[in-house]
Amino acid sequence: MNHYDSIKIINYLKYYGNYKILESFDYADIIILNTCSIREKSENKFFNFLNKFNKIKKNNSNLIICLCGCLSTQLKKKVFNKSNLIDIVCGPQSIHKLHYLIEKFIKNNKKLIDIKSFNINKNINNFNYKYNFLKNIKIYSYVSIIEGCNNYCSYCIVPFTRGKQVSRYPEDIFKEICNLSINNIKEINLLGQNVNSYLSKFSNGNKCDFSDLLYLISDIKKIKRIRFTTSHPFYFNDKIINCYKNIDKIVNFLHLPVQSGSNKILKLMKRKYSIEFYKDLINKILFFRPNLTFSTDFIVGYPNESEKDFLLTLDLIKEIKFDHSYIFMYSPRPGTLSYNFDDNIDINEKKRRFFEIKKLIDSNVNYYNNNMLNNIYKILVEGISKKNKKYLFGRTENNRKVFFKSKNCLIGNIVNVKIKKIYNNYLYGNLLTT
Ligand code: 5AD
Ligand code: SF4
Repeated sequence: MNHYDSIKIINYLKYYGNYKILESFDYADIIILNTCSIREKSENKFFNFLNKFNKIKKNNSNLIICLCGCLSTQLKKKVFNKSNLIDIVCGPQSIHKLHYLIEKFIKNNKKLIDIKSFNINKNINNFNYKYNFLKNIKIYSYVSIIEGCNNYCSYCIVPFTRGKQVSRYPEDIFKEICNLSINNIKEINLLGQNVNSYLSKFSNGNKCDFSDLLYLISDIKKIKRIRFTTSHPFYFNDKIINCYKNIDKIVNFLHLPVQSGSNKILKLMKRKYSIEFYKDLINKILFFRPNLTFSTDFIVGYPNESEKDFLLTLDLIKEIKFDHSYIFMYSPRPGTLSYNFDDNIDINEKKRRFFEIKKLIDSNVNYYNNNMLNNIYKILVEGISKKNKKYLFGRTENNRKVFFKSKNCLIGNIVNVKIKKIYNNYLYGNLLTT
């Protein structure tokens, strides 16, 4: 999501002003740091990074440093006390005003902060039609459908930094995706903190929920693949499950964060579902798509997570055979419910649990990779290999990067490739003609 916000920032600045984006910050006049605050580590990273700019500021006293992203809404004005280097603080919902803040700063040379929340359906909505920002991404694109989150999971700072949930109008999303498809985008990734709770209205007043939106988008002919991130299991209702039966364009891969394999911990986290519910959901999806694989998120070392709770998480990984996982060591975040809990799992124990999960997930990934050998997969071709121009590369629905030889430029097509070699981060295959 942050990566997508960075793309938006670049494009707002290019559209509204005569800015040149540099490869390195050494000779920059403006440095924009788009930050995350989901864990304390990201916060520390930002301040360590900031120290690097002292030297640049000494050589260029006009250097402007902007703080964007969730750290700005988390720290607010306090950030100016933490570092003198920061000139502008711009919240995640004010990025469309950044050009204006920069101009104002240059004029008045006074520190500025704008962390107001926007109305997604007004301020930012139709920007893409005015300026084509497809230069970096040619085949696939993110599309925001919902901003903010109302869930208040005990550990999570997002509802505080990104605000209440607001869904974009379906017609606006539809128009944006049509526009992307005209510009050769073949795969879209619908973005939101919790896409399953998307709820909006058509201009005729009819309600549009997430499954309605999926049907609407699947009608866009040139869009070949649909992904969505992130799903919350509790809101993944039967209507959405049915989309896996009816919409072939939804990929055979789903990111479905579970966080823990223990009901005790899920309850403390206020995740609203049990492991039994989660497994049932997985089975319902597999009923329509037996070959679909899942990725997930885990938090290890949550307050009071016992060895028994942790073993339940390992059991779940073995049972579901997740194809990928993001693993996080629990980090207390100010303002959240669990900030008040005793962070009572030792850091070394958190690390041990982290690596145990990683080991299991890595073995799952190997298992799936090996199963792919000598089988045929549909690849959406993204580009030409940098190392060897005779090779093209693309991605399978389960996100494997695959290289294959081709005489024709097939970028943007979906082709059949037989997997022939497996490496850790990519695969090689032979292009099939039929
Ligand atoms: N500590 C560790 N991990 C966290 N996440 C969210 N908040 C925290 C926290 N305080 C993880 C969750 C979520 C992912 C985006 O980040 O696993 O799904
Ligand atoms: Fe955070 Fe996701 Fe829970 Fe929302 S649903 S509070 S973004 S973990």
